[in-house]
Amino acid sequence: MPSMSQPPIKGIILAGGLGSRLHPLTKITNKHLLPVFDQPMIHYPIKTLVNAGIKDILIVTGGNHAGDFLRLLGNGNEFGLKHINYTYQEGEGGIADALRLAEHFCDGDPMCVVLGDNIIQNNIRAAAEAYRQKGSGARILLSRVPDPERFGVARFAADDGPPGALRKIVELIEKPENPPSDCAVIGVYFFDSWVFDIIRTLKPSKRNELEITEVNNAYLRAGLLEHSMLDGWWTDAGTFDSLLRASNLVKSDGANNL
Ligand code: DAU
Repeated sequence: MPSMSQPPIKGIILAGGLGSRLHPLTKITNKHLLPVFDQPMIHYPIKTLVNAGIKDILIVTGGNHAGDFLRLLGNGNEFGLKHINYTYQEGEGGIADALRLAEHFCDGDPMCVVLGDNIIQNNIRAAAEAYRQKGSGARILLSRVPDPERFGVARFAADDGPPGALRKIVELIEKPENPPSDCAVIGVYFFDSWVFDIIRTLKPSKRNELEITEVNNAYLRAGLLEHSMLDGWWTDAGTFDSLLRASNLVKSDGANNL
């Protein structure tokens, strides 16, 4: 249990955007309501938070089918929750644009942000515990992948050791053509409330989005970014290939294992 001096970590699931990479599937529903093996996609990030002891949750959704989240999830009783908070993102201005909408909900408290299409084999309990101990700054999680060019990628200070929590990150690069490592930044981020000040300084990127990678780089430049290596597999599910891969991985290994 967090002590009085450590405010509880709030949970934010980003499930906005228009899912255009999955057309025509996302013409008639929101991407995060599509099935990943035997569950709607949104169930997995909820379990990621709940398994880490984070139960005060806001879902940021958007698009034409936002009301269906309420019909599916209600107050989250199925996950042992008493209540779920919801808010609505207009358009798809990027991950940091969606996160902006959580400022009022966080009310100065630290947070764990999970992208609604990210699925993990195991859990983030160790990273959550490390962040609880620290209580401020940012912590990201890295996972080694065969296709880093699809993600935010860490560049390390030296290439003289295996990627690990002890290596120093010098830069995070969004979808690099020539990835400097195979360590992708997964869609689970711990931030303090400084994140909202950073977001206010961001300018839209080439893809016209406010980029979460620029938020992480701002923490890095301030010397306030730590990282953990994720244990077990991780995948997104936002393309046809990764959606299929996610279903197959969940079928063979289960997800959100404790
Ligand atoms: O999956 C991890 C990767 O996610 C990171 O490695 C990248 O650094 C990060 O930029 C992001 O990359 P993608 O380009 O794959 O993100 P995508 O646009 O697919 O959005 C991921 C989730 O974020 C999506 O399922 C819902 C949420 N989102 C996204 C956008 C663009 C929103 O809530 N609102 C948005 O406007």
